[in-house]
Amino acid sequence: MFKNKTVIITGGSSGVGRELAMRLAKRGARLALVARDPNKLFATKEEIAAAHPRATVEIFCCDVTDNDSVQATFQVIADSPLRAPHMLVNSAGILIENYFEKLPLDVFRKTMDINFFGTLHCMRAALPFFKERGGGRIINMSSLSGVMGVFGYSAYCASKYAVKGLTDTLRVELRPQNIRFHVVCPPEFDSPMVREMNKTRTPENLAMAHMLPVLTAPQVADEIMSGVRAGRYEIVPGAIPRAAYFLDKLLPGPSRALTDMAVRRSYKGPDKD
Ligand SMILES: NC(=O)c1ccc[n+]([C@@H]2O[C@H](COP(=O)([O-])OP(=O)(O)OC[C@H]3O[C@@H](n4cnc5c(N)ncnc54)[C@H](OP(=O)(O)O)[C@@H]3O)[C@@H](O)[C@H]2O)c1
Repeated sequence: MFKNKTVIITGGSSGVGRELAMRLAKRGARLALVARDPNKLFATKEEIAAAHPRATVEIFCCDVTDNDSVQATFQVIADSPLRAPHMLVNSAGILIENYFEKLPLDVFRKTMDINFFGTLHCMRAALPFFKERGGGRIINMSSLSGVMGVFGYSAYCASKYAVKGLTDTLRVELRPQNIRFHVVCPPEFDSPMVREMNKTRTPENLAMAHMLPVLTAPQVADEIMSGVRAGRYEIVPGAIPRAAYFLDKLLPGPSRALTDMAVRRSYKGPDKD
């Protein structure tokens, strides 16, 4: 399924994107890793080369919020020995948590720009190559926060709901053109993004998010790989988070009551200082 396939991974230099890169390299995919920081990209390339010496991995510095740069980067990848992509993984993302009243408007714009428009730009850039090939596969990282509201994540949830809605629409719209989608909705997992957030996190967000177990990036990547191989559209890593997801779908009232209780018990509020 992955051997000799060209896979573009945005956010491939860190967290779950990096873990997916490792697993895809092991299975013989040709990788194009896309992110902004060249040092992190280079370090990831070296780590993959050390673990899988025969792997083909190239790195590309590109900010996914810049549509022209995304278009140009995908063309460079297609013209390179990697050739046109068979698969796209949209993992680039940011997370800024705080009380709604304390989040500057800029944070909402920046979060939408990277998480939503970044994903959109990359799909638009990949589509002509997929059409030329007669098909393709896209894995979009949404989140459990893309299907449930979470205290402190007003900017983040909005962006991840947007990714989920866009992916749900394109799944049905592009299926006749043989373009397959997977939308990943993980609970919290340990990564540089989360470690950064932990420095300033609100107690209510912590209490709500930690109602579910925190996974590791390798765990999430393993479940994405098996979900993609099984052709599963919605991939929710972790047995307990999966149960919580189905509970929320089937019994939204009790699910909301549980989260309200966790927030009530931990509540300090935006005016605590
Ligand atoms: N960790 C969690 O708990 C969790 C839970 C659910 C969903 N997710 C989602 O999973 C994805 C990966 O998260 P992670 O925790 O693995 O994050 P991470 O370790 O912080 O990695 C984020 C990656 O995105 C890249 N990136 C950020 N902004 C970019 C931009 N404008 N252009 C290009 N690349 C950019 C980063 O590299 P540069 O900074 O060098 O550009 C980095 O490679 C994200 O979409 C996240 O929202 C995470």
